[in-house]
Amino acid sequence: MSTFAKGLEGVVAAETRMSFIDGEKGILEYVGIPIDSLARNSTFEETVFLLWNTRLPNKAELDALSKQIRSRTKLPPKLIDIIKGMPTDAQPMHVLRTAVSALSLFDPKPNLTDIPSAQEKALNILAQIPTIIAAFDRYRRGLEIVEPRTDLTFAQNFLYMLNGKEPTEAMARGFDICMILHADHGLNNSTFTARVVTSTLSDMYSAITAAIGSLRGPLHGGANEEVMEMLNEIPSLEAVEPYIMGKLAKKERIMGFGHRVYKTIDPRATFLKTFAKQIAADTGNQKLYEMSTKIEQIMAREVGAKGIYPNVDFYSATTYHSIGLKLDLFTPMFAMSRVSGWAGHCIEQLSDNRLYRPAAKYVGPHDAPYVEMGKR
Ligand code: SDX
Repeated sequence: MSTFAKGLEGVVAAETRMSFIDGEKGILEYVGIPIDSLARNSTFEETVFLLWNTRLPNKAELDALSKQIRSRTKLPPKLIDIIKGMPTDAQPMHVLRTAVSALSLFDPKPNLTDIPSAQEKALNILAQIPTIIAAFDRYRRGLEIVEPRTDLTFAQNFLYMLNGKEPTEAMARGFDICMILHADHGLNNSTFTARVVTSTLSDMYSAITAAIGSLRGPLHGGANEEVMEMLNEIPSLEAVEPYIMGKLAKKERIMGFGHRVYKTIDPRATFLKTFAKQIAADTGNQKLYEMSTKIEQIMAREVGAKGIYPNVDFYSATTYHSIGLKLDLFTPMFAMSRVSGWAGHCIEQLSDNRLYRPAAKYVGPHDAPYVEMGKR
């Protein structure tokens, strides 16, 4: 029995070839390539290939993957009926978790876990998540659902299905960069969840559904929506200092800050900060950016010494808002990207599986008597 590590802090529970994190130096690499290089030069489709094949594709391979994804974006008609049967005020992350689970009902062999079948299911789920999110958002707004197109990139197609018109080059590129930055991140809670489910040889739908449930949590992927709620709550730049200091005084957590692994700024936050500044300026959202940098300064002064810095969720809030996404679609955006990491980890788990079954340290009584009801 190893010693009890609460929250499995510092425990190595898997080996992976996909992403490397150095929390002290603030380094994130996908298959050894620094995240900054990928955000500047790659696309989300290329990043998916990189994560799933642990190498960059040549042109023919990338075109083939893009074609495969784009040919799978349409939803089964009965799934659209299920989405249209959902309450219009349902939370999108609950809708997404339900719809991904329902996808398994339309797969004739949902339980197959051989690698080629798992890859097939991963492709389908990755391709259909954007369509599910856009379809529900249009339906809840009383708008016609927009069919996916096969001549657009992953990022362009989502924004097209959501808004009913093609996005600008800048918006599509911005969204694509966000997808790259959120794709994989070691053994975060939702990825670990996916691997734990996969380790019983359960199916890809169950693993991804479980991971979506984990990601929704405000301590994990749900933080980007909490950051936006916070920015909406603070009435002015002058009100930032008293607001943050008031929360810290009550030992409340400032969402978008802190990380189990990073003890310096999350390199994704560094990139997103630069990007948020540009896209906020282009869209008249400078105030959000200025408030965010003010919060960052205060947090550096107050808790920087404890290794609490912005994480990926802090500046992604301003970025997603500036792209025109509704607040309750921020975490679904995270899922839309992270499904590439989750699926990659599921396939790694299947390739060298061992059932996850950690121990629990029993701290209760022993040899206790069974007390009859009348004597309790
Ligand atoms: C993601 O794991 C991943 O890789 C996740 C992720 C990914 O890509 O998958 O990077 C995505 O989930 C990013 C994190 C998003 N969550 C948030 O922004 C929520 C706010 N952050 C915190 O709740 C917290 O920082 C965690 C949950 C992210 C990490 O918490 P830990 O490692 O369990 O740290 P802890 O709770 O033990 O805190 C250590 C100290 C405590 O103070 P003391 O009791 O020692 O005095 O730091 C303080 C905490 O109170 N602290 C914070 C804080 N986070 C930690 N204080 C104020 N604000 C915060 N945000």
